[in-house]
Amino acid sequence: MGIALHKVNRRNTPDKRFQPSDLNFTHGVASGDPYSDSVILWTRISPQYDSVDDNSVVSGDVPLYYHGPDQTVSTAPICVEFKVSLTSDFADIVSSGRAYTSSDVDYTVKVEATGLEAFTRYYYRFNVCDSNNTSPLGRTKTVPNVNDHVSQVNVAVYSCANYPFGFFNAYGNPARKDSVDYVIHLGDYIYEYKGDGDYGNGHPIGRVPKPERVIHSLYDFRERHATYRSDLDLLLSHAAFPWIATWDDHEVWLT
Ligand SMILES: [Fe+2]
Repeated sequence: MGIALHKVNRRNTPDKRFQPSDLNFTHGVASGDPYSDSVILWTRISPQYDSVDDNSVVSGDVPLYYHGPDQTVSTAPICVEFKVSLTSDFADIVSSGRAYTSSDVDYTVKVEATGLEAFTRYYYRFNVCDSNNTSPLGRTKTVPNVNDHVSQVNVAVYSCANYPFGFFNAYGNPARKDSVDYVIHLGDYIYEYKGDGDYGNGHPIGRVPKPERVIHSLYDFRERHATYRSDLDLLLSHAAFPWIATWDDHEVWLT
């Protein structure tokens, strides 16, 4: 992948950079796609709780960090560090690094922690660089090597999770029981409907997903995703187990 560093640098505005106290980990933490020596770690660190209200995507020869004439937020990238440890006190760091995010990707962060041991549990967390603004604690696990013999692997398998149908206690139960190694999600992690009666009515239980319309745009999908990530049991599962996920048809707009 090629990145025009001079363009990235040109958009950087160190004098307008966010203070660590301006930033919040709004969506919890998550891990997934475990290998025997690596795992993907994910979070969102943002100056705003709302999703980035812009539908432009980063592709081709376009300036980074440009979101139209009404943009009011700083274009300075946000720096986060990640740390991985065998213990929750992070006495020994076995993998770490820095990453940058911006409004282009709705302030999300996705990094790969490498150099890990097979079939081993790890703890991880993020922090805003050079600060004590720290994410919730996450836990994850690598998979065995291809030819390793293991006596038992437990998984929780899900599909078709429609927010207005009800609460996601099924996500939370294996976390509370600490009863699985991995979560497998077969798709329909979100639904694109309005959720006010067209396919589930969330009004009686206060679970009408945002935005309150059939979702079409990039902003719509970010906001819908953010709604799902307000479910505490969904957050608990992501923080407790690595997810192995694929998509089904409702992850995209159906015409
Ligand atoms: Fe489904």
